[in-house]
Amino acid sequence: MKIAVIGTGSVGRTLAGTLETLGHQVTIGTRDIAATLARDTPDQLGTPPFALWHADRPEVGLATFAEAAADGELVVNATSGLASLEALSGAGAANLAGKVLVDVANPLDYSQGFPPGLDPVDSDSLGERIQRAFPEARVVKTLCTVNTKVMVDPARVGGGEHTIFLSGDDAEAKAVVGALLAAMGWRDIIDLGGIRTARGQEMLMRNWLNLLTTLGTADFNIKVVR
Ligand SMILES: NC(=O)c1ccc[n+]([C@@H]2O[C@H](COP(=O)([O-])OP(=O)(O)OC[C@H]3O[C@@H](n4cnc5c(N)ncnc54)[C@H](OP(=O)(O)O)[C@@H]3O)[C@@H](O)[C@H]2O)c1
Repeated sequence: MKIAVIGTGSVGRTLAGTLETLGHQVTIGTRDIAATLARDTPDQLGTPPFALWHADRPEVGLATFAEAAADGELVVNATSGLASLEALSGAGAANLAGKVLVDVANPLDYSQGFPPGLDPVDSDSLGERIQRAFPEARVVKTLCTVNTKVMVDPARVGGGEHTIFLSGDDAEAKAVVGALLAAMGWRDIIDLGGIRTARGQEMLMRNWLNLLTTLGTADFNIKVVR
């Protein structure tokens, strides 16, 4: 499948590299190709420059948000949560129409420092905002409840015996995303229901941050025991 990953950070890179390894034709989207390739220092979180990563993964394409989305049969939103609506506007509503749009972003608000808050929270979610802004896209929220490395390699913690969630209004779109998750090694996938349930996924970030501080590692996840 042709997949557009909108976002050049650690999440976009990790998902793009894994999806390419799984046999998909993947293009990463960025605002400004030249600016992205010209960066030569790590970002605030210490993520190395994009060009260094891309030199090792030249088979992953690099394009503008709009070019990547236009070419993709499925689109992944891996952009900064507070900028996701702007980034997806750059991708273009027409280029998202009818397509599965996998939203892995968390709307983290660092304006009050660390730990970040969420905006929106509780009575709305980023997943719902994206679905409202792009009504013809088939938004599926997932993977926002785990660290990047765990997203694509659940077996790295607890032998993979833990849980990932799906939220979305389109059952067929959730089936497509569920198959991608299974290919990445996820076995316990819980479909929470419509996109409104993205609120609960995003709000798990509060406890994820507590656990990060307490455990001193991002290599963990929760398991829903029935
Ligand atoms: N890190 C994790 O383990 C983890 C886990 C779960 C979920 N998430 C979520 O995954 C998403 C991606 O995280 P990340 O750390 O990889 O990347 P990030 O630094 O949060 O976002 C980088 C991307 O956002 C785009 N961007 C930033 N400001 C923008 C603006 N004003 N307009 C348009 N686009 C803008 C950048 O575009 P350019 O390419 O043009 O620079 C870049 O592609 C976030 O929402 C994060 O909360 C992260």
